[in-house]
Amino acid sequence: MRVLIAKEELQAKIDELASPIAADYEGTRPVLICVLKGAVLFMADLVRRLPFDLEIEFMAVSSYGQSSESSGVVRILKDLETDIEGRHVLIVEDIVDSGLTLQYLTRSLKARNPASLETVTLLSKAGRRTAEPGCRYTGFEIPNEFVVGYGLDYAEKYRNLPYIGVVEDSE
Ligand code: IMP
Ligand code: MG
Repeated sequence: MRVLIAKEELQAKIDELASPIAADYEGTRPVLICVLKGAVLFMADLVRRLPFDLEIEFMAVSSYGQSSESSGVVRILKDLETDIEGRHVLIVEDIVDSGLTLQYLTRSLKARNPASLETVTLLSKAGRRTAEPGCRYTGFEIPNEFVVGYGLDYAEKYRNLPYIGVVEDSE
């Protein structure tokens, strides 16, 4: 495993991201939507840095089927348990690659008439976009490599690593 973003760098970046989010959402009791499963660790670290009332929700979507490339065909596997009409909503994503998953999610949530809808993503592969869903807050721009750790998996493995890494060929 080659370490791309060390544990300390991740934590420092989440401090950095939390500060504008805390300022922007203070007093609004926002709904933070964690996109399962990859964003679980990021969500857990982010909400601990937001010192006001908020709600957390979870959504699961499948974008790829069996292939490792986004097809643009997205299915909701698990939906919200709350009505977001009139609420300030922040989608919490692990990584935006082609952008297709987030574009679909954004469209589907906008149709439910939230008061506002923004996204924070920990990682972004900007060079790979085929859709531009627009992220209000971005942690790291990373090169086009398949990364794992800190919630991200390869065949359900590596989610528990405290850093972001790249799997080397011999592993
Ligand atoms: P998109 O629709 O291409 O933007 O795909 C986004 C989703 O693909 C993410 O939420 C991840 O679940 C997955 N994904 C994309 N790139 C990676 C990666 O490098 N490692 C692990 N999962 C990834
Ligand atoms: Mg994801």
